[in-house]
Amino acid sequence: MNPNQYQPVKAPRGTRITCKGWHQEAAMRMLMNNLDEEVAEDPRRLIVYGGTGRAARNWECYHAIVRALKTLENDETLLVQSGKPVAVFRTWPYAPRVLIANSNLVPHWATKPCFDELEAAGLIMYGQMTAGSWIYIGTQGILQGTHETFVAAGRKHFGTPDLAGRLVVSGGLGGMSGAQPLAATMAGATYLGAEVDPARVARRLASKKPRYLDESIPDLDKAIDRALDAKNHKQAASIAWCGNIVDLLSRLVGRNVVPDLLTDQTSAHDELNGYVPSGMSFQQAVELRGRDPAAYKQASYRTMAEHVRLMLKLQSMGAVTFDYGNNLRGKAVEGGFLPESEIRTPGPSIANRQSPIATWRYPGFVPAYIRPLFCQGKGPFRWVALSGDPKDIAETDRIVCDLFPDNTALVNWLRRAAAEIPFQGLPSRICWLGYGERDRAGLAFNKAVREGRISAPIVIGRDHLDTGSVASPNRETEAMLDGSDAIADWPLLNAMLNVASGASWVSIHHGGGVGIGYSIHAGQVIVCDGTPEMDERLRRVLLNDPGTGIARHADAGYDDAKLVARTQGVKLPMLEERSR
Ligand SMILES: NC(=O)c1ccc[n+]([C@@H]2O[C@H](COP(=O)([O-])OP(=O)(O)OC[C@H]3O[C@@H](n4cnc5c(N)ncnc54)[C@H](O)[C@@H]3O)[C@@H](O)[C@H]2O)c1
Repeated sequence: MNPNQYQPVKAPRGTRITCKGWHQEAAMRMLMNNLDEEVAEDPRRLIVYGGTGRAARNWECYHAIVRALKTLENDETLLVQSGKPVAVFRTWPYAPRVLIANSNLVPHWATKPCFDELEAAGLIMYGQMTAGSWIYIGTQGILQGTHETFVAAGRKHFGTPDLAGRLVVSGGLGGMSGAQPLAATMAGATYLGAEVDPARVARRLASKKPRYLDESIPDLDKAIDRALDAKNHKQAASIAWCGNIVDLLSRLVGRNVVPDLLTDQTSAHDELNGYVPSGMSFQQAVELRGRDPAAYKQASYRTMAEHVRLMLKLQSMGAVTFDYGNNLRGKAVEGGFLPESEIRTPGPSIANRQSPIATWRYPGFVPAYIRPLFCQGKGPFRWVALSGDPKDIAETDRIVCDLFPDNTALVNWLRRAAAEIPFQGLPSRICWLGYGERDRAGLAFNKAVREGRISAPIVIGRDHLDTGSVASPNRETEAMLDGSDAIADWPLLNAMLNVASGASWVSIHHGGGVGIGYSIHAGQVIVCDGTPEMDERLRRVLLNDPGTGIARHADAGYDDAKLVARTQGVKLPMLEERSR
């Protein structure tokens, strides 16, 4: 990749399009938006977030994708293979304009060393979830989800969503992890976190509206003292210490300081290009990574093992501890420095895996807090104003508040987000909506575009971390009731159904969130261009997409999902037969 080819990227704004239709224009603007310097973590290297999650394989491929989209007809479909445009075929006007497959490997070869070799040869790229599928919206995307998770943990463990007087401790201040301090203080908590890269600390500290981070204290003990003082005064404050998370955790253990909530969001899914070993400065780590990758990986795995042991120690001292979706537990075992027996309790084997009862000694955030929402088809729904005009998002906020006035948490979130969260790149919004809600929002947005209340089309998408779109045994499908954690038919069915239902672009990825070998997941994006045709497509896609989540969870035996299926008319053949 030649960094000299770098030119800052910004998506066009306004209503004049340079592609042959709004669907192609939307894909192009969203690809460009993912690489906007306000949005991406490292745009020069096409890295959007999550370690090395890229929007295109290299700059040559990026420019070729843009050229292909500009000439793509309204009955053609562009195929993108791991960030490279590989073919254009004639399909149908209502078929997706782009189909994307990122990072997929045949299971026997779906290993990180194999992936690294293929990536070095320029044959594949890591797409994370919304990086390679062009629907990342910056830190706002994770802010609400993280806030929801902390609040849900508060409700479950302390009987209140108000975390005032509680200490939350975690690691990482990157693309996603950088949302943790603000998500915690929004819930009233005191936050103490470690981040090893001084530039990431500086970036979060520099953001004033909103304040992603309040303070950075160079001395470790003073940082801990400051956090304890804030906790004792029930002060919603966020404090960072620039250094390795294991050093922070071992000092907490040494001083007998027990966090109320303990988690981690360093890039542990990637032992080479994400996670940073202890015992060296960030600069030294970067130097070792380039000079001796094998030694780096060993050091990384060794640190992960220590990291997990410290989390277990703090858990035994009373900290509510959960995994926050970076596969730290799995990677620590994979590295060979942490015997599986230390982090998993033994259980009966189902299809060569552990018991479906949560066997990790500390649980993942999905089985702990999020699965009940997935059972209702709820997940992170997001949309972007292609006009670039913030007034268009203000109008969508009004529409959603009018549609769901009784959902006070949702209405409060939208008001707060509008007042406190500046947009990164194209104006966007996220909120969690469920089955039977997303289609109503989509149709209302499309009507508003048609009537000119919104000045240009809106794109609607979602995270791949959603109710029906992912198989990820150490995260979204951890500890499924029927032991079906590792079955990846579901995301493939989800993607195919989204194609059949009329999404604007659809993607299938491997390895998002938790790293190569650990997940398969799918994404869909659909454009509200105001036309009656899009009414039909929105109605189908935005019902069917979360509908696969209802089907997946009902099939696994979750009563909540069966109830939603029965009351909302999701047709599940064998469930219907059994209930007759
Ligand atoms: N729970 C979720 O919903 C969710 C969503 C997206 C991503 N993720 C996962 O969360 C992780 C973080 O994502 P991101 O976008 O913030 O990644 P990122 O790479 O942008 O940021 C991670 C940060 O961790 C820091 N770090 C790495 N090792 C460290 C260590 N030992 N001590 C202190 N700091 C360290 C890095 O310097 C970096 O700034 C990834 O593994 C990602 O896959 C989880």
